[in-house]
Amino acid sequence: MKTKHKILIAVLILLIAIQFIRPERNIENNPSRYDVFHKSGQPTEIVALVQSACYDCHSNRTAYPWYASVAPVSWVMANHVNEGKSKLNFSDWKLLEVEKQRHALDEVIEVLEKQEMPLNAYQWLHSEANLDQTQIQMIINWATDFKKPLN
Ligand code: HEC
Repeated sequence: MKTKHKILIAVLILLIAIQFIRPERNIENNPSRYDVFHKSGQPTEIVALVQSACYDCHSNRTAYPWYASVAPVSWVMANHVNEGKSKLNFSDWKLLEVEKQRHALDEVIEVLEKQEMPLNAYQWLHSEANLDQTQIQMIINWATDFKKPLN
């Protein structure tokens, strides 16, 4: 067999083998009662916007597309989710001290103003996460209003 073919077969075997290493999925069954929007009375428009743009990495509920089951995409994703959640988890919001909530909202405003979030790699795959200027401003306004009573 030609070396080229051997390498191809080795790569194929490796690709199949890594499919057995499956990271745990970030899917909770019931919406958390500690969620930032739980009984918040916020307009559905803003709730839907933040959920579609940020919840995949900043909540206990990731909406996985089909290719998220395929390694190594699944690994990269698990990594984003773990890292994102460790910085900010909207599902655990009401468990945070007021001081931390205020700080988190400051950071939300900051990353949106600097256009650092959502992550670029993610926007490339998820067109719905490509926020336009109006949507970015909507989330900034929400965070600003939400912060007021916490001061
Ligand atoms: C594809 C996953 C993903 C999405 C979607 C996403 N984030 Fe993040 N976010 C991360 C990761 C990973 C980090 C930690 C690494 C970093 O700061 O770059 C992070 C960090 C943050 C931080 C903390 C920044 C800091 O300096 O500590 C804030 C605030 C944040 N994200 C807000 C948001 C908001 C608001 C949205 C929605 C508009 C969003 N993120 C969407 C993955 C994501």
